[in-house]
Amino acid sequence: MLQFNAPVTEIIQQRFSCRSYCRESVDVDRRERLQAFIADLPPGPFVRLRTAPFGSRPRFELAAATEKDGKSLRGLGTYGFIKNPPAFILGVMTPADYDLEDYGYLMEAIILYATSLDLGTCWLGGTFTKSSFARKMDLSAAETMPAVTSVGEYADPERKRRGIASRTAGSDRRLPWENLFFHDTLDTPLSRDESAGYVTPLEMVRLGPSASAEAPVQASPTSMGAWQVPASRIPATDSSTGRSFG
Ligand SMILES: Cc1cc2nc3c(=O)[nH]c(=O)nc-3n(C[C@H](O)[C@H](O)[C@H](O)COP(=O)(O)O)c2cc1C
Repeated sequence: MLQFNAPVTEIIQQRFSCRSYCRESVDVDRRERLQAFIADLPPGPFVRLRTAPFGSRPRFELAAATEKDGKSLRGLGTYGFIKNPPAFILGVMTPADYDLEDYGYLMEAIILYATSLDLGTCWLGGTFTKSSFARKMDLSAAETMPAVTSVGEYADPERKRRGIASRTAGSDRRLPWENLFFHDTLDTPLSRDESAGYVTPLEMVRLGPSASAEAPVQASPTSMGAWQVPASRIPATDSSTGRSFG
């Protein structure tokens, strides 16, 4: 079990993609706590201890500018999408069954822990220069780096407060419940009332980050009581530049 320092449902509601950070490096205390969380992710694949659902084991590291060396991340490109990132969570994986699912699960766990430390984050699946980030992680020929995450102090705490309020009121730009969750085919929407004990977990899925704002998650219950969540492979596109980052 992953241990967070607050109820994970609260942390999920606080998280949003923060693309603008304060210039200062993340303070030593929170840097160390985030590093410790990453280091303590139990190694897999052990059935009882594993944290990644499918048992593959991506490796993650925090690359953070320090007070002494504030320029250490200067060569890592994010194409101007991300302003003043003082740190990144970098991760690499070796090919395995469901490797992307495990990678996403663990990266999101680290993101939620960072959120609980009151740090902003943003997944970067396409808007980063893979070669320079790969050098930081000594990527081997067998490994790939599907995405990284920027981390830092929010440049605009007010935006953070508004983010939380709009999510709580359900007024963010996300698709409504009926467009996301279905019985077994996409023409039979699943209402909240029909979701019984799954309302909270499904709402948390709805609030999660998504590489594709147009086609986020579609989940439907199976007869066995499990939920199938087909992965969307449709890349997202930044409307101002047309650049795809999914
Ligand atoms: C796998 C993945 C890759 C993403 N890649 C990028 C990216 O390259 N650049 C970017 O600005 N945002 C990226 N995002 C963030 C999404 O745009 C964001 O999660 C989505 O718009 C929902 O907004 P929210 O995170 O504020 O809830 C990515 C998200 C995910 C899950």
